Amino acid sequence: MRNFVVVGNLATTTPDFSLEDIPGTSGRLDILCRCVNSAFVLSHGIRHDVRIFLVLRGGEDPKTVCLRGRDLRHLNPDERTTAALLKKALGLEATDRWQRSTPGIYVRTRGLADLAVLRGDTIYYLREDGADLREQKVGGDATFVLGDHLGVNEDDEALLESLGAKIVSAGPASLHADHCIVLINNELDRTEAERGYE
Ligand SMILES: C[S@@+](CC[C@H](N)C(=O)[O-])C[C@H]1O[C@@H](n2cnc3c(N)ncnc32)[C@H](O)[C@@H]1O
Repeated sequence: MRNFVVVGNLATTTPDFSLEDIPGTSGRLDILCRCVNSAFVLSHGIRHDVRIFLVLRGGEDPKTVCLRGRDLRHLNPDERTTAALLKKALGLEATDRWQRSTPGIYVRTRGLADLAVLRGDTIYYLREDGADLREQKVGGDATFVLGDHLGVNEDDEALLESLGAKIVSAGPASLHADHCIVLINNELDRTEAERGYE
């Protein structure tokens, strides 16, 4: 399973944003929508072996939305459709237990520190100055943590360090988080294809 975690530092925890102006009214939920697209969307389908956790911090208390490829439905490549699915999830009365919104989309209160995937064996924190991802022989189950336009703050970095996350770079340029996800998926695709040919 490939897991992506994206920190939305200002991303709204309520459905009170406009689909006509997602960047301007949602605390940059548009960035997270593009990450969802990069995580799942293939030319003719959806990646089933992917989950993405969107950590939303633009409210009093954080919320996390999880999208799971295995049972995800109604996802289209455009940002607006994704934002509409998130809007619906954020309209639920969230508790600290995962609650299904639409097929493959779950929501709960709580944030980064409470994510069980960060207790897995292989955690990678994506940062421009990290070790080259290509040198890591990444494969199998892995979790990749990325920031939004504001990056990942010092407290999160300390948490990730305490959990043994490896700091890795997706390449020499500073990229958008969604583009990093495309590159990570591609690296994993290539590794899996090579292993398949052995
Ligand atoms: C637009 S960047 C964040 C820029 C932000 N101003 C900062 O200084 O952190 C969004 C996220 O993409 C990831 N990222 C961008 N370029 C990367 C690279 N070359 N290697 C690894 N991660 C990268 C990081 O996780 C970063 O938090």
